[in-house]
Amino acid sequence: MQKLFSGVQPSGNLHIGNYLGAVKQWVALQEQSESILCVEDLHAITVPQDPEVLRKKTLEIAKIYLASGIDPAKSTLFVQSHVSAHSELAWILNTIARMGDLDKMTQYKDKSQKEGETTSIGLYDYPVLMAADILLYDTEVVPVGDDQLQHIELARTLARRFNERFGETFVVPEGRIQKEGARIMGLDDPTKKMSKSAPSEYNYISLTDDEETVLRKVKKAVTDSGTDITYSDDRPGLKNLINIYSLFGDKTPDEIVTMYEGQGYGAFKTGLASVISGFLTPFQERLAAISDDEVKAILEAGAVKARAQAEAKMKQVRERVGLL
Ligand code: AMP
Ligand code: TRP
Repeated sequence: MQKLFSGVQPSGNLHIGNYLGAVKQWVALQEQSESILCVEDLHAITVPQDPEVLRKKTLEIAKIYLASGIDPAKSTLFVQSHVSAHSELAWILNTIARMGDLDKMTQYKDKSQKEGETTSIGLYDYPVLMAADILLYDTEVVPVGDDQLQHIELARTLARRFNERFGETFVVPEGRIQKEGARIMGLDDPTKKMSKSAPSEYNYISLTDDEETVLRKVKKAVTDSGTDITYSDDRPGLKNLINIYSLFGDKTPDEIVTMYEGQGYGAFKTGLASVISGFLTPFQERLAAISDDEVKAILEAGAVKARAQAEAKMKQVRERVGLL
């Protein structure tokens, strides 16, 4: 079975882009993979977090994994900070990572622009911690949205560099993106990806939005000039909506275009909102039914399993590096 690792940070509200780009893939892949799924709390604190909110969000993300169909009997589910090997390996990888590797990271460039001189060292070092997450578990595949591919490339570079210097230790992982879900675009601006930090709530549909909110946001979504439903690159707004429809409705874009032939945007948007809510409503019911205690027990059991694997790898790493 292939070894899979992925994670999401517990910051902001997860939106349908996160679900379609990342979590949905994990659910499908857990059948054929040895999956390790992490709530990346140490990554979240690279930008200021309210401690109380962070604690709440950490549990909420884990509940979202479960409500999406992640099965703790098949996947190991844990919180990053519960396995201290992540921080320890990140430190060691820091000593082989180069400023030149990190200076070109576009996510850092974007985020640090906003924060200027107050940007934390942690934010700069974020991709090294991410490499540690991945490399600790002999990960072969890392399913993510396409914005994370550059970080995975760094994990590959560091694995190779470490192996060359200290002997074969790490598996070189592969990033994996899903064709249509790889980049869900903003509903109010189809030239930029859907983002939880977007200034307008009309940019995204949150996983906790109710039916009325979904309909309101879909109705307001930017479409392009023209009145018929077609799927093409010249109509990026409509193309994005058809992609979302396709992923939630399990239909190909062509099937959707055929379904709405001769009908206008109104019918298409009502149909789209109902397909999204058709997923979200039962998802939210499952989410509400999971208690804090239940999820804490699952995370604790997951940490025990993850710790054992991570510790075995760290033993090897310390030895290779020459730590007594
Ligand atoms: P983030 O929101 O940056 O914490 O991302 C969590 C996961 O969701 C990562 O795997 C991202 O690549 C993925 N993701 C975030 N935004 C989108 C989007 N608009 N479309 C597809 N995947 C996304
Ligand atoms: N940086 C990822 C994101 O923003 C989250 C993440 C942290 C991650 N560590 C990871 C994803 C390891 C995959 C593998 O989405």
